[in-house]
Amino acid sequence: MRFTLLAFTLAFTAACGDKDTGTDSGGGDSGASEVDAILALTGDATAGGTTFSNTCAGCHGADGASGYAANLVEEIPSKDDAFIVNIIINGDGGGMPAQDLSDQEVADVLAYVRATFGG
Ligand code: HEC
Repeated sequence: MRFTLLAFTLAFTAACGDKDTGTDSGGGDSGASEVDAILALTGDATAGGTTFSNTCAGCHGADGASGYAANLVEEIPSKDDAFIVNIIINGDGGGMPAQDLSDQEVADVLAYVRATFGG
């Protein structure tokens, strides 16, 4: 998991340059303003698919439903965008850890899960 994410991050950072400093990763202070900033971005579902494979699939399954974690095929359609962004950047305080992604990467993953799982 971690090394595939790193490899992806290195490749992606070169093309993107808009990398989160990481100072807020895992912290409790990634509040509504960061969620709003991400929601204001335009996500790229294709790039988000790569991030999903590298970052989310290990727990949720490549198809969103075959992992040990929550079934995203069932859950995504009933969740709003702010909920999804918030759980990605802050975790849920339980089984899902905060994900160390740039704001653009989160926007891309959001576009991917919407395009793939609906809602
Ligand atoms: C380390 C494992 C892990 C990773 C990586 C992970 N998740 Fe999760 N995720 C979980 C677990 C476990 C839950 C269920 C949390 C709970 O119910 O306490 C969850 C819950 C969720 C939920 C809420 C589902 C619901 O029923 O409310 C969403 C949405 C979600 N994850 C999306 C993602 C996305 C998108 C990514 C990639 C950016 C991701 N997760 C990465 C483990 C993970």
